[in-house]
Amino acid sequence: MRVSAAIHREFSIAQIDDRLYSAFIEHMGRAIYSGIYEPGHPQADDHGFRRDVAQMVRDLNIPAIRYPGGNFVSAYNWEDGIGPKADRPVRLDLAWRSKESNQVGINEFAIWAQDLGIDMMLAVNLGSRGISDARNFMEYVNHPSGTHWSDLRRSHGVKQPYNVKMWCLGNEMDGPWQIGHKEAKEYGRLADETAKALRQLTPGAEMVVCGSSNDEMPTYPDWERGVLEECYENVDYISLHKYFGNSSRDTLNFFGKVEETGRYIQSIAGVIDFVKAKKRAKNDVHICFDEWNVWYHKREQDSKNWKSWDWPEAPALLEEDYTFEDTLFVACLLNEFIRRSDRVRIACIAQLVNVIAPIRAEAGGPAWRQSIYWPYQLASIHGRGTALRVAVDGPSYNCAVADDVDYLDVAAVEGDGIVTLFMVNRHLTEEADLRLSLTGYPGATLLDHQVIQGHDLMATNGPGREPIAPVAGRGLAVEDGMVGGALAPLSYHVVRIR
Ligand code: AHR
Repeated sequence: MRVSAAIHREFSIAQIDDRLYSAFIEHMGRAIYSGIYEPGHPQADDHGFRRDVAQMVRDLNIPAIRYPGGNFVSAYNWEDGIGPKADRPVRLDLAWRSKESNQVGINEFAIWAQDLGIDMMLAVNLGSRGISDARNFMEYVNHPSGTHWSDLRRSHGVKQPYNVKMWCLGNEMDGPWQIGHKEAKEYGRLADETAKALRQLTPGAEMVVCGSSNDEMPTYPDWERGVLEECYENVDYISLHKYFGNSSRDTLNFFGKVEETGRYIQSIAGVIDFVKAKKRAKNDVHICFDEWNVWYHKREQDSKNWKSWDWPEAPALLEEDYTFEDTLFVACLLNEFIRRSDRVRIACIAQLVNVIAPIRAEAGGPAWRQSIYWPYQLASIHGRGTALRVAVDGPSYNCAVADDVDYLDVAAVEGDGIVTLFMVNRHLTEEADLRLSLTGYPGATLLDHQVIQGHDLMATNGPGREPIAPVAGRGLAVEDGMVGGALAPLSYHVVRIR
């Protein structure tokens, strides 16, 4: 198939917020325990954090990480995770029917995040708790000294406050499964009052209010309207969550879910604009897509397991084995975030280690990179700067979730004088014969071309076996302002031009 495309240096979408490439990690399954933290592992550092996992995280160049949940946060007492480890209580985690040892709490997590240069984005419990505990937590985390909570932190050996700027006001409060689930107005009021209290403690702190748990919730998108009508002026972001699957084994429809996500983003952008207009508000609210990923391979079995098991500690849970098909999907989804970086400022892959994660780690054994690690890493490294408009003219298809889906999915970013093209040929059998014109980049040449292609759609990586990884690409040329060449069916390309 022939595909024409065009980019013009003057036609941009937005300056991308680096936090578009953030992550999320929750106290659940083996994400924390035997994921990032495993004292006694041959790779453990002095604090008990695994160096092998940390290196894989470091290589992702993650700007910010949302912690500690997730559903977990809605019944979590943050004070359980501070002070001498031997004195910390073991609790039942109601969200995942597991035991929480509290051996990792805010101070341990901060050591890990600081070591990796990642900003913390902390969620407060607005399920079983409320304003008072949220402000205590913030005071412990952000206040310098001279008060009960700040001096307690200092007595725990942390003299300097963490100055955490990003705060999530609960998690998925529209979900009946959530501990402390609320109606939109009820939650919106609580979020508003909590945001006001927290802002008094940390002026300039950014507040993320909960949107719907996904776009199939019966209350979507009325939830967002109801919540924002209560708190619009006191929040900065509204969260979106969406997980994806292909249980029906329809690859093109799976890929079409990226366009469906575009509609989701557009709808919430519309709700934000509606409430802003209705309130005559001056401030802008942006989108924080703080949970996204593929999650379906083991979902049914997992859900049976955790609902019936007897409160195990750090059990294997949501340990999805990602396929090459998922690599292509994640690449397209990240492209959509780049294309919608005018409204989506923050996005978090959910999650980071073991639980629906790009990195896996065996207890006592090796760590490895799953197939989805690579599109996330390549976007995080090369997708910073200005998102450029890309006009694409080529064949498209219709599927159950969307019509007119371009076979060739393209996003473009300019940063440090380099234009990076992220391209996925979603066609199952045909090459894309590409002619992409670049206006405003005289003398541009090909700097680098990386590709992931040629794998069975169901192929996976595993311990000591990582076949799905980028390799040097061939067959693309940049000449006289034109990028040309053939892109194999079912292939992912990162092309850098200067
Ligand atoms: O990421 C796993 C779970 O998915 C989170 O705890 C919750 O917020 C979402 O439903």
